Amino acid sequence: MSDRETMTAAYITRPGPADEIRIGRFPVPESGPPAVLVKVRALAVNHVDTFVRSGAYRTRLPYPFVIGRDLVGAVVTAAPGFAPGDTVWCDSLGYDGRQGSFSEYAAVPADRLYPLPGGVDPENAVASLHTAATAHIGLFREAGLRIGETVVVTGAGGGVGTATVQLAVAAGARVVAATRPDDFDWCRRCGADEVVDHHDPDVYAEIAELAPGGVDVFWDNTGRHHLERTVPLLARGGRMIIMAGLGAAPVLPVGQLYTRDASLRGFVISNATVDELAAAATAINHLLARGALVSRIGTRLPLTEAARSHRLQEGAEPHRPRGRVVVLP
Ligand SMILES: NC(=O)c1ccc[n+]([C@@H]2O[C@H](COP(=O)([O-])OP(=O)(O)OC[C@H]3O[C@@H](n4cnc5c(N)ncnc54)[C@H](OP(=O)(O)O)[C@@H]3O)[C@@H](O)[C@H]2O)c1
Repeated sequence: MSDRETMTAAYITRPGPADEIRIGRFPVPESGPPAVLVKVRALAVNHVDTFVRSGAYRTRLPYPFVIGRDLVGAVVTAAPGFAPGDTVWCDSLGYDGRQGSFSEYAAVPADRLYPLPGGVDPENAVASLHTAATAHIGLFREAGLRIGETVVVTGAGGGVGTATVQLAVAAGARVVAATRPDDFDWCRRCGADEVVDHHDPDVYAEIAELAPGGVDVFWDNTGRHHLERTVPLLARGGRMIIMAGLGAAPVLPVGQLYTRDASLRGFVISNATVDELAAAATAINHLLARGALVSRIGTRLPLTEAARSHRLQEGAEPHRPRGRVVVLP
């Protein structure tokens, strides 16, 4: 096989630690309906990639399994709705039987492929896809966010936190960002109305003062879930979004929940339908096109350092930089 027919990819042959990730040569995937062949330009690492790789999040994987979920790239061969050279993106490869994105080329199902608006930086886009789609589904499908509501985001300086703050602000919410003080300026730049220190033991009293009418949507990215402290902060009809904390087993103050007509709403983006992902994609493209969705990029690595990208994401290497890990083939 010539070099033009093969490509470099990062893959695993069984679930396990980041050191299981290998770099190898594979045939360029077959294109043609329903898949569109894409030349990959930028990739991002998210926590879910490490959960899929390790087996912590169980999903059907074809082995050898090319890791990764998100990509930005260029269409190689024409397909209905796509012309060669179009810049496109996908945020739903690498689970439920689909091969992943960490390769030079990927065959992307056409209904999971979206155009990237002109002028948008591919690296900022790829760093924002998973987090912003998560934020969109959580804020709109789960929380039913309305203009003028008060949203509290804990872990607001992280990836999903950053996106949640920006999407909530764009939707006309009042946003209280709970984060570490190092990230106060970043969260303000993302549009947060108020910032509080999520490591301060008095943070819940501070949030209560900032939201005297109660919190409409409380989104905990940290997975810590101090429900005995946070449920009483909810307004009548408040929604507590649960999307992190695989091993958390918090105490639920039941009376504080139901006497407020409040609800707990749990979800994973991996269960989202193609239509829900497409709706999120439309909103993401709108925000990207007007510069209203930005991410911090902490590190850029070549594809050959895919194992290191996972170790960085898992905090298994010293000096994990703030911001996303972006991988460039
Ligand atoms: N249910 C779903 O569909 C879904 C989708 C996406 C993500 N998630 C989950 O949501 C949680 C948050 O994801 P995420 O991508 O936002 O994680 P993240 O970027 O690591 O941020 C989460 C928090 O971790 C801390 N952190 C540690 N190192 C950091 C760094 N280098 N950069 C920024 N923050 C850092 C921050 O708080 P401190 O440093 O102050 O402690 C931050 O607020 C994870 O548990 C993830 O698995 C769930």
